[in-house]
Amino acid sequence: MTDRPDDHAEHIAVLRDEVIEGLQPRPGSLLIDGTLGAGGHSAAWLDATAPDGRVLAFDLDPVAIGIARERLAGYGDRVEIVHGSYERMGEVAPERGFGAVDGVLLDLGFSSMQIDDPERGFAFRFDAPLDMRFDPTQPLTAASLVNGLSESELADLIYEYGEERYSRRVARAIVQARPIRQTGELAQIIERAVPRSRERIHPATRTFQALRIAVNDELGALERTLPQAVSLLKPGGRLAVISFHSLEDRIVKQFIAAHSREVYDRRAPFAAPKPMALRGIGRVMPSAEEVADNPRARRTGRRVLRCTAPAL
Ligand SMILES: C[S@@+](CC[C@H](N)C(=O)[O-])C[C@H]1O[C@@H](n2cnc3c(N)ncnc32)[C@H](O)[C@@H]1O
Repeated sequence: MTDRPDDHAEHIAVLRDEVIEGLQPRPGSLLIDGTLGAGGHSAAWLDATAPDGRVLAFDLDPVAIGIARERLAGYGDRVEIVHGSYERMGEVAPERGFGAVDGVLLDLGFSSMQIDDPERGFAFRFDAPLDMRFDPTQPLTAASLVNGLSESELADLIYEYGEERYSRRVARAIVQARPIRQTGELAQIIERAVPRSRERIHPATRTFQALRIAVNDELGALERTLPQAVSLLKPGGRLAVISFHSLEDRIVKQFIAAHSREVYDRRAPFAAPKPMALRGIGRVMPSAEEVADNPRARRTGRRVLRCTAPAL
């Protein structure tokens, strides 16, 4: 990491005000922040719930945790931080007094601190080892996938998680050039493999996204965590999810759809329907001002789900 912690003190969380408005915190309210990052959303929650609101936060990245710890030090024991996946919230939160909370937040994907770190391998604009792990203690890296998967496994991964229509060509070029160790080398191989287009994004963008999603099992973690998050909400509690691309947004949308209908039992047509567990409260996109300040916010969107009954 080349940046110092103070470089992030002013790091502004994406859709910060919209998230707080959607979660509707009150003094004393409890939040589980599944994706602490630099702690911007947690700080906003702690301010809004003073003097006694609390946060239980998770992050896989020890560097982010170090930065957030410094930023949140002034809130004392109102904040508790766990190094680990938000997938563990169902098990960890009740042990820490967060078994019934007012809000859960998932701000998905990577942070600007991670992509701007030349050594983590998230970005092809820096030549770095093919790493891409949020948690550096996990064994699987992007290099393991690039050099270890078969051509058809690679093609499927790049197609599914990168929505890359030239996935077969990219996979073939990768297999022919292996072993590949550095991000710069991989970006060049992809650039040569796909036809030139008028798109503004670099041809390697989609493949890098696919590898990052696979290394960190991002979509699987989200699918496994949504039911846990809702089961930790008090009735009336809210879950906010900030997604960064359509694959994540689709999972959240489908989850809301599956749990926001009254469920009738076909075998007992006259029985009362099971109450719906969730109400989706629309999607909010960043303002033009926020996108002008932070172009990375461009693709984000926030959905809020309100828990209507403890039914999951
Ligand atoms: C977009 S950033 C969050 C920014 C944060 N909301 C803020 O205000 O600074 C996403 C963070 O989630 C973390 N992360 C990604 N997947 C995770 C998971 N399964 N469990 C815990 N943290 C995760 C990443 O390491 C990263 O720090």
